[in-house]
Amino acid sequence: MNSNEINIAVVGATGAAGGTALELLLERNHPAEKIVPMASSRSAGRKIAYGDVELTIVEAKAEAFDGIDVALFAAGGLVSRRLAHKAVEKGVFVIDKGSIFRMDPTIPLVVPEVNGDDIDWHPGIVSTPNCTSTPLVMVLDALRSISPIKAVTVATYQSVTGTGIAANEELLEQSRTVLAGGMAKSEVYPHEIAFNVLPHVDDFLEDGYTKEEKKMLNESRKILHDDALLLSATCVRVPVEISHSESVQIEFESEVTADDAKRALADYDGVIVVDDPSKNEYPMPLSAAGRDEVLVGRIRKDIAHEYGIALWLACDNLRKGAALNALQIMDEALCRDAFKPSAQRSTK
Ligand SMILES: NC(=O)c1ccc[n+]([C@@H]2O[C@H](COP(=O)([O-])OP(=O)(O)OC[C@H]3O[C@@H](n4cnc5c(N)ncnc54)[C@H](OP(=O)(O)O)[C@@H]3O)[C@@H](O)[C@H]2O)c1
Repeated sequence: MNSNEINIAVVGATGAAGGTALELLLERNHPAEKIVPMASSRSAGRKIAYGDVELTIVEAKAEAFDGIDVALFAAGGLVSRRLAHKAVEKGVFVIDKGSIFRMDPTIPLVVPEVNGDDIDWHPGIVSTPNCTSTPLVMVLDALRSISPIKAVTVATYQSVTGTGIAANEELLEQSRTVLAGGMAKSEVYPHEIAFNVLPHVDDFLEDGYTKEEKKMLNESRKILHDDALLLSATCVRVPVEISHSESVQIEFESEVTADDAKRALADYDGVIVVDDPSKNEYPMPLSAAGRDEVLVGRIRKDIAHEYGIALWLACDNLRKGAALNALQIMDEALCRDAFKPSAQRSTK
């Protein structure tokens, strides 16, 4: 199959991640035969701009997947749980951006630069990681080529679009209200996000970590194929519209110099080193927003560990953190002629 023969559905096309998928398809001038935006019954029938044309939003339900070759699911876990397998039964290759399939051992969790080969064994669904795990595993994969990694400590600074469009509207509305001297109302988050920082992303677990923090550990292990990886995360929501940043400390088994680390990162696909403190150049959410690459800087020896490196990264959570990674999986599967589940391919 060629890319100009495929019919692509974007489920959640009116949302932050799905909307970015449409934007990327357009930006790349994707030659798809047909692009079908899907959303809830609330949006069905509405028009959505796609360059010079308007596409009609279709309600996401099983029948809507007839004739679709690949579906990017970005409408939350409930929709994926209800429809992903039904779509697969109709011969659709599903790429899911939510969290429900990520730790299912029968479903690959893929960042193409790191573990693209895992696409080969998919059962009809490939999952994409959490938007904080994706840039982190790319950095860890680049650096483990120098020395094995013993432990990672990471603190995230996550933008509000990571929660979706409603959270971004809440940040803007609260900011306007506070600046006008009013009292801000919080609906999406438990506290005000404007002019504040919340050390709270996703639900708390019994051990004191949050689900988001455990996602970073478990997803990194699965993608890197390293069940022994030690990783402790503190996930923090900040009043930034787009791009997640991370402060990362990595402990290696042997000496890694800052120069070695810079070289390995600069050579890695999808990573750009932005690291010139003398010119105040380092990654920032504003510079990462709208870009496809993971920006890495502040690369230095971590003086708290014998063999440690500390660094800072920023990555557009809607692009590489979500939609771009999904489109790269689609392209990679197409190249590998791997849209069909592996069981159906091997019995050919
Ligand atoms: N935002 C990110 O940075 C990011 C990163 C990685 C993964 N993800 C994942 O992407 C998914 C979407 O997140 P988001 O941030 O884009 O959320 P969002 O901005 O709130 O968008 C949600 C989308 O889901 C659709 N939807 C809701 N209920 C539906 C239903 N019953 N049937 C069909 N469509 C329905 C909405 O359509 P209506 O407009 O019709 O309600 C909307 O298009 C989540 O699973 C999230 O974990 C997001």
